[in-house]
Amino acid sequence: MRLLSLLSLAAGLTTAVPVDNVFPRTGKSTSPANQTLSSTSFNLYWPPPIGKCQKPLIRKEWRQLTTTEKKQFITSMKCMATRPSKAPKNLAPGARHRYDDFNSVHIIMSDGLPQKTGGIHLVGFFFPWHRYFLSLFETALRTECGWTFGLPYWDWSQDAISNLPLKKWPVYDPVTGFGGNGPLLTPPQNATYSWPYLTGQTGGGCVENGPFQNWTINVGPGQSTALNTRCLKRGLNPDTVQWLRPERVGRAMLAENFTEFDARAQAPPDVTPETTIRMMHAAGHYVTGGEATDYISSTSEPLFWLHHAYLDKVYSSWQAMKPAKRLSDIGGPSLPLSPESPQVTLNTTLDVLWEGEKIPLSKVMDISGNEHDGFLCYRYTI
Ligand SMILES: *[C@@H]1O[C@H](CO)[C@@H](O)[C@H](O)[C@H]1NC(C)=O
Ligand SMILES: *[C@@H]1O[C@H](CO)[C@@H](O)[C@H](O)[C@H]1NC(C)=O
Ligand SMILES: *[C@@H]1O[C@H](CO)[C@@H](O)[C@H](O)[C@H]1NC(C)=O
Ligand SMILES: *[C@@H]1O[C@H](CO)[C@@H](O)[C@H](O)[C@H]1NC(C)=O
Ligand SMILES: *[C@@H]1O[C@H](CO)[C@@H](O)[C@H](O)[C@H]1NC(C)=O
Repeated sequence: MRLLSLLSLAAGLTTAVPVDNVFPRTGKSTSPANQTLSSTSFNLYWPPPIGKCQKPLIRKEWRQLTTTEKKQFITSMKCMATRPSKAPKNLAPGARHRYDDFNSVHIIMSDGLPQKTGGIHLVGFFFPWHRYFLSLFETALRTECGWTFGLPYWDWSQDAISNLPLKKWPVYDPVTGFGGNGPLLTPPQNATYSWPYLTGQTGGGCVENGPFQNWTINVGPGQSTALNTRCLKRGLNPDTVQWLRPERVGRAMLAENFTEFDARAQAPPDVTPETTIRMMHAAGHYVTGGEATDYISSTSEPLFWLHHAYLDKVYSSWQAMKPAKRLSDIGGPSLPLSPESPQVTLNTTLDVLWEGEKIPLSKVMDISGNEHDGFLCYRYTI
């Protein structure tokens, strides 16, 4: 059912995006006040086809994939850990396979957060960098491992209000998902480089069921890319669910400018370990726990990609509300925990090491690739 959301008018949607691209998620008509203040029963998508992006790759929510597609995706993901590494040995000596390569890029590029000297977190280019990184992983899955669609995303806000226990969340299903928890370790182990440690993990050990039971990680934890072969650890954490509710998404969607959007999703102005962990970005890692709480090698967790695809969906939906302004709106510090550092601009370089060219940030501002001489061409389902 297509309903015109009054929110779109309140938010001043420009004519570049037809207003009927705003759908209430549930199809239920709620009052604008409720939509604005307490939920995101609205969702936006980029209207395809648009400009030079006539055949966008479609990124679907995990639940929207058929069982066959889910199994194909998991097979492609596991395939990445069977293809030999292409990473330069001096940069990633421990990398043995293509999945390690991408993990190593994230590990190396995360360097410098506590020292405030660099890295891809708590900076203004966090969203564009991860958007670029995801597109390269999506390409690798497709060209090297047989995946034929866009990267799936995981809308955890649906789970957060489902009243299901974590082990019943579809992404943790051992047959049609990514498998569940590891066993509870006593005393509870703090994941290495978890920043900070959050109590409440119900597991912490090696994943015991599902397709990633014997997943082999060779790089990390933390900043090391030396060979360190180990299992995937998980500790599902129900305490984080409160920070994944749709209201959190709605708050970000209602931000008036990019720095405010970024602050509501990733890095609040009073950024401290305690405030960061309660943001939806961090909470979407901490809910899975274990290796996912290591902000440096969280890429070891296959759900990294689905979580970040959802964040990118929220970001692109926010942009789509006022494309004329928001496809060029960027800012925030270029160094973490350093509000005084030079502001990120459309010219800021995004570096993904050996996995792709260094590009100016502007090129990934538009997921339809039309603005700023871009090259991306995908859209998200609602
Ligand atoms: C918002 O939704 C709640 C629950 O659905 C309802 O009780 C409340 O009256 C609504 N508020 C407004 C302003 O419509
Ligand atoms: C985990 O970290 C917390 C907070 O820093 C600390 O109190 C606790 O002792 C740590 N536990 C272990 C097993 O290291
Ligand atoms: C993981 O290894 C164990 C022991 O070899 C085996 O029983 C199990 O089937 C394997 N699981 C998967 C998903 O490959
Ligand atoms: C962005 O919006 C916030 C909150 O409304 C405001 O405080 C800030 O000055 C704005 N920043 C820019 C760069 O416009
Ligand atoms: C971006 O870089 C280009 C080429 O280096 C330069 O011409 C342009 O002025 C820069 N723009 C901004 C906003 O810094």
